[in-house]
Amino acid sequence: MERTLILFKPDAVQRRLCGRLLTRLEDKGLKIVGLKMLQVTTELSRRHYAEHVSKPFYPLLESFITSGPVVAIVAEGPNAVTVVRGMMGPTNGQTAPCGTIRGDFGVSRQMNLMHGSDSPDAAKREIEIYFRTDELISYQPTLAEWVCADDEK
Ligand code: RTP
Ligand code: MG
Repeated sequence: MERTLILFKPDAVQRRLCGRLLTRLEDKGLKIVGLKMLQVTTELSRRHYAEHVSKPFYPLLESFITSGPVVAIVAEGPNAVTVVRGMMGPTNGQTAPCGTIRGDFGVSRQMNLMHGSDSPDAAKREIEIYFRTDELISYQPTLAEWVCADDEK
């Protein structure tokens, strides 16, 4: 089983889309093991988006991600990083295919509703940035045996 870090960005919170986005994650069969609302600070933004800090678009990215509360989630499932990236779609909502979250809910490159870790290493790093170990909950979902076969877990 793999874990990934998801953020519902400030646009998703302000547009009251969090419930619908969370439903899509639950409908997919992903297990939610951590969830909280928080305000991203400039320091947190620089840690999270360390790979982008020196890029020309970073100031606008920082001002957007710190502009209101976000919802941070850790989701678990087989190949969760790739599965969630596929559900999100490519960065720009204008070109993201219909059926993806960014394709269905947005028209913007910056206001693209949701973040998902882009590799297992990034997921580990980002989960540690947003969650303490004791904020991640271990439990056995009663439907687990109907979500995937034993050799896929
Ligand atoms: P994210 O990290 O937020 O999940 O998005 P992503 O992987 O699809 O895109 P990434 O390349 O990591 O970029 C992070 C965020 O920066 C903004 N961006 N602006 N102006 C630009 O050229 C540009 N490129 C990226 C987007 O908000 C993107 O989500
Ligand atoms: Mg990224």
